[in-house]
Amino acid sequence: MSKITDLRSDTVTLPSDGMREAMMRAKVGDDVYGEDPTVIELQRRVAELLGKEAGLFVPSGTMANQVSLRAHTEPGDEVILDAGGHSFNYESGATAALCGVQVRPITTETGVFTAAQLDEAVRPPAYYMPQSGLVIIENTNNYGGGTVWSVEQTLQVARRAHHHGLPVHLDGARLFNAQAATGVSVKEFAAPVDSASICLSKGLGAPVGSVVVGDRQFITKVHRFRKMFGGGMRQVGFLAAAGLYAIEHNVTRLVDDHKNAKRLAEGLAKLDGIELDINRVKTNMVFFKITRSGFDSHALLERMRKLGVLANPTGPMGIRLVTHLNVDKHDIDTAVSSIAEALNR
Ligand SMILES: Cc1ncc(COP(=O)(O)O)c(C=O)c1O
Repeated sequence: MSKITDLRSDTVTLPSDGMREAMMRAKVGDDVYGEDPTVIELQRRVAELLGKEAGLFVPSGTMANQVSLRAHTEPGDEVILDAGGHSFNYESGATAALCGVQVRPITTETGVFTAAQLDEAVRPPAYYMPQSGLVIIENTNNYGGGTVWSVEQTLQVARRAHHHGLPVHLDGARLFNAQAATGVSVKEFAAPVDSASICLSKGLGAPVGSVVVGDRQFITKVHRFRKMFGGGMRQVGFLAAAGLYAIEHNVTRLVDDHKNAKRLAEGLAKLDGIELDINRVKTNMVFFKITRSGFDSHALLERMRKLGVLANPTGPMGIRLVTHLNVDKHDIDTAVSSIAEALNR
């Protein structure tokens, strides 16, 4: 077995030589004192790209969501989001442990909910009920299949949320994938919401980091919670430089990841023992269900691993594969052949 094709996530990407060069040359300072010029530039650049007043660099997408959530709500509030949402399911219970809020999940097929569903989830102002405090949408939606929330869907939900007096946070860990899939700018996607976060460490290929954006007052609040949650960092311009490089060099190429995801889906859809809806592949994620008897995701993943292909389970019979800048067309074709072999053993 030669190369491992790692399709577990777009977070597994390794920094390129150009990115490493940019990191090495970065001008740095103590960012807790607000003196790191590269961090300041990254924050300015991302805020500008998303059309918001200010930005704040944080170590992870999880912290980006949680400091935003904490800044928008008070303990005891309820946060309305998709039942498969990342901040609800994959952030170690931080909504409860760090923010003291509870979650009001909306069940969806693809991670996208409607204004009518939001209306149903909003609590009436009864003193004995939790109070709705925030709406979160995730674009692209990870466990909904890499789905894009269109600007129109975002607008409708944001209008309804604002009508109820609720702010909207956009978990845009993969917002640049939504841009690549539609040609609609990240600024247009972010316009209807009050705050947004983007990840530099996913499809954009940087080793670390996310940026939260919003108005100045919100970012001042988020700044305080970043420190409280342990995310104040010192000479972190080295990492911000990777982020700036990623924005400069790795945004337009995301369309290649989407083409590779389509190619992968088309290859896999032809295999017996797999159920896969190609029409649901919109960005860089491919989900399938195993229908072959005698198999489950654990068994298939183990066989795939032995043949050099890594992916993640999404349940007893489900598997997710994610394309990214360290896999090319050739790797995709090899992965399809290996998965076919794994299924036929
Ligand atoms: C939609 C979404 N939001 C947030 C995160 C959290 O990012 P991190 O792993 O940097 O904490 C992820 C991670 O995969 C994600 O998919």
